[in-house]
Amino acid sequence: MSNSAGIQAETQAQGGIQVGTPDVVAASTFPQYAYGTLLAAFLARRLGLGEVSVAELGVAGGNGLVELERVAAEIGAAQGVKVGTYGFDLGSGMPTPVDHRDNPSMWQHGFFKMDEELIRSHLTSAELVLGDIADTGPRFMRSGAAPIGFLSFDLDYYSSTVVAMKALLEESPEHYLPRIVCYFDDTVGPHEELHSEFTGELLAIKEFNAAHEHRKIGRINGLRYKLLPMTESNDEFSWIEGMYVLHLFDHPLYNQYVYPDADRQFPLGG
Ligand SMILES: C[S@@+](CC[C@H](N)C(=O)[O-])C[C@H]1O[C@@H](n2cnc3c(N)ncnc32)[C@H](O)[C@@H]1O
Repeated sequence: MSNSAGIQAETQAQGGIQVGTPDVVAASTFPQYAYGTLLAAFLARRLGLGEVSVAELGVAGGNGLVELERVAAEIGAAQGVKVGTYGFDLGSGMPTPVDHRDNPSMWQHGFFKMDEELIRSHLTSAELVLGDIADTGPRFMRSGAAPIGFLSFDLDYYSSTVVAMKALLEESPEHYLPRIVCYFDDTVGPHEELHSEFTGELLAIKEFNAAHEHRKIGRINGLRYKLLPMTESNDEFSWIEGMYVLHLFDHPLYNQYVYPDADRQFPLGG
């Protein structure tokens, strides 16, 4: 058995996450959603929590939410954790961009209108929450939902992302896992989209971090290498650059040991 095959077998036997690209991630049409949900369910299980919430912010046609519901069911069953799945959207398409920070060169009013009836006919357990996230977000946080473990930010605009962060990320720690995997869809994009920390989601992240002493959103460092081997085109894997984690240093469970191994050693020559 090669060293990596040995590590792989050992990790899985101890209830850890499959080394490399986990099968459920490789098989998903939204690998970022499968990865975020997998990490969230794993962390919930290791913390002894029976349930966790995952959400897509910005649903549009519904392809992402339908896939999030599917992977949540599969991962929840495998991890023994109930995964509540939610999708937030205005329903009426994109609002009017406020200023240059919303990148109007890329998105305009009325884009991504939803066929609500069609989406609902494809959903079984996921909850579609319609309305401005400025209103639906705070209501959701008061609804008694399980702690949030994964969020996909795909509202496109800076202004909508700021509102969503304010509505969803400023509550007390019991509403969250101590680390929330966050996917930011609008940080790479095609050639025509040139994202920077001065507009859009990247600006919203920078401002959130500056405004919060005990909560910081940071890239999952070296995720590319964790997911190796990667053999396909860059485009297929560009979602990797959009994966972040919100660290809640003020969460009472933040420092709790969660590794599958009861002890960790690197014996010389081992
Ligand atoms: C690019 S689309 C989402 C695409 C979807 N995630 C997918 O993968 O198919 C962006 C969506 O964000 C929604 N949105 C933008 N601002 C919003 C706000 N303030 N509240 C709720 N939804 C909003 C729009 O209605 C639009 O449908």
